[in-house]
Amino acid sequence: MNILTYTSNEELSAYAADFILDLVRAKPDAVLGLATGETPIGVYEQLVDRHRKSQVSFRQVKVFNLDEYAGLSPGHEQSYQTYMRKHLFSGIDLPSEHAYIPCGIADDLSAAARDYDRLLEEAGPLDLQLLGIGHNGHIGFNEPGEELYAETHVVKLTDETRAANSRYFELLEEVPEYAVTMGLGPIMRARQVLLIVRGENKAAVLKKALYGPVTTQCPASLLQLHPRLTVLLDEGAAKEL
Ligand code: F6R
Repeated sequence: MNILTYTSNEELSAYAADFILDLVRAKPDAVLGLATGETPIGVYEQLVDRHRKSQVSFRQVKVFNLDEYAGLSPGHEQSYQTYMRKHLFSGIDLPSEHAYIPCGIADDLSAAARDYDRLLEEAGPLDLQLLGIGHNGHIGFNEPGEELYAETHVVKLTDETRAANSRYFELLEEVPEYAVTMGLGPIMRARQVLLIVRGENKAAVLKKALYGPVTTQCPASLLQLHPRLTVLLDEGAAKEL
């Protein structure tokens, strides 16, 4: 595992944006696994900026997002569809039909999840999976528990995750109780994983994830088994390493 620590979010995000851009330059039809949340916003900002200034095109790229809230329509302000359009898709030349996000509003969410896995399978292994980490060690919405799943599935969000994400909603009760998330399979099969962690409040969970036991109680700990893991940190997140 390769761990790099940065003094500012700008530097960290710039490194991550260049990492992604270099990959697309070398492989114009790259398949990218993308995350949402606060952490990658700076990365997407810089990616849009660099895309405008460079000749690198996303026309042949495909992206698969990790997760979506169950019950939020694609147009909902807090859906991850909206997030991706706002922070990335509207600023790059990625064709809309190349942007895949799990469906949170199908009548049969499990059937839609199986369709998502089929699309992932057809696209081939992800060339890069971008990840953040939850305070409880989740990656995507793979929450800590007795079991983890390889496939895309419906998950009941933990109280901790709903509380953490309630900052985007007016009321805690508005945070969906369920989500659809990519499982550990495509994440672990990705050719490379780029994990980004910021803030002192993630320092303890990061230490557990990188150096604690590999356990379903800390889903991010499985990343210790990934052969090509790069971890980008700010000084706060690196505090306990
Ligand atoms: C979001 C996702 C989550 C977040 C994690 C950290 O697509 O997959 O695992 O990466 O909850 O979120 P932030 O960056 O908001 O702290």
